[in-house]
Amino acid sequence: MITPVITVDGASGTGKGTVSQRVAQHLGWHLLDSGALYRVLGLAAQKQHIALDNEDALSQLALTLNVTFHFQLEGAAQVVLAGEDVSEAIRTEEIGNAASIVGALPAVRKALLERQRAFKEAPGLVADGRDMGTIVFPDAPLKIFLTASAEERAARRHKQLIAKGVDATLAELIEQLRERDKRDTERLVAPLKPAVDAICIDTDHLSVEQVAERILNHWQEKAGEGCSGKKAFPVTEQMAMNNFAPVLA
Ligand code: C5P
Repeated sequence: MITPVITVDGASGTGKGTVSQRVAQHLGWHLLDSGALYRVLGLAAQKQHIALDNEDALSQLALTLNVTFHFQLEGAAQVVLAGEDVSEAIRTEEIGNAASIVGALPAVRKALLERQRAFKEAPGLVADGRDMGTIVFPDAPLKIFLTASAEERAARRHKQLIAKGVDATLAELIEQLRERDKRDTERLVAPLKPAVDAICIDTDHLSVEQVAERILNHWQEKAGEGCSGKKAFPVTEQMAMNNFAPVLA
């Protein structure tokens, strides 16, 4: 029996996190929020006063990071770093930026690779990030790449921040997103880009539910659920051979 993986990659603010959570919940699968791992590393580095360009120290820290994820029925997972709940602390713009800086270091990415792959457990995994389909799970039977304009992504982030009572201007947020996109797409290792066999979904005018539904539809086509009329999970190797032909976007 193979354990299927659906990868959901894309830039910040494309809604990957919420969409991946919905898809994982619907299928009853595990979830990997790889961005949270990079964020925790950024936060741990800050706490231990490790410079964000100290590749040796950061990769060592990545290997020994004492982090656990506690998934809940609703909302984001609780993230615990060395016994401390850091779920909120890792979501600031500052830590997002730190995550993007440490994520550009090859030794750090290497150190986090196996940790991410260990999330692949039966009955399946939805993995969200930047390089899930290209590097971490290159054999995933379904790869999704979400896109949205910087303006739309900044507007979504603005709404979230205002709801939390955090002050931010749209112009500032667009600027920060562009800077982070630039670093994420131009870095030498595992840059943000769609896998050649990824299906791209432009989320600009779609709700979270609509995007999740599209992904689930793609998965049903792959797993043959529509043909049998009943749930086809977990997927058998035979089914995989029959149905997991690459789909062109
Ligand atoms: O997805 P999220 O915004 O939480 O990720 C924070 C940062 O972590 C990203 O801007 C990116 O630089 C980095 N990251 C990465 N590879 C991943 C996930 C996140 O480099 N697979």
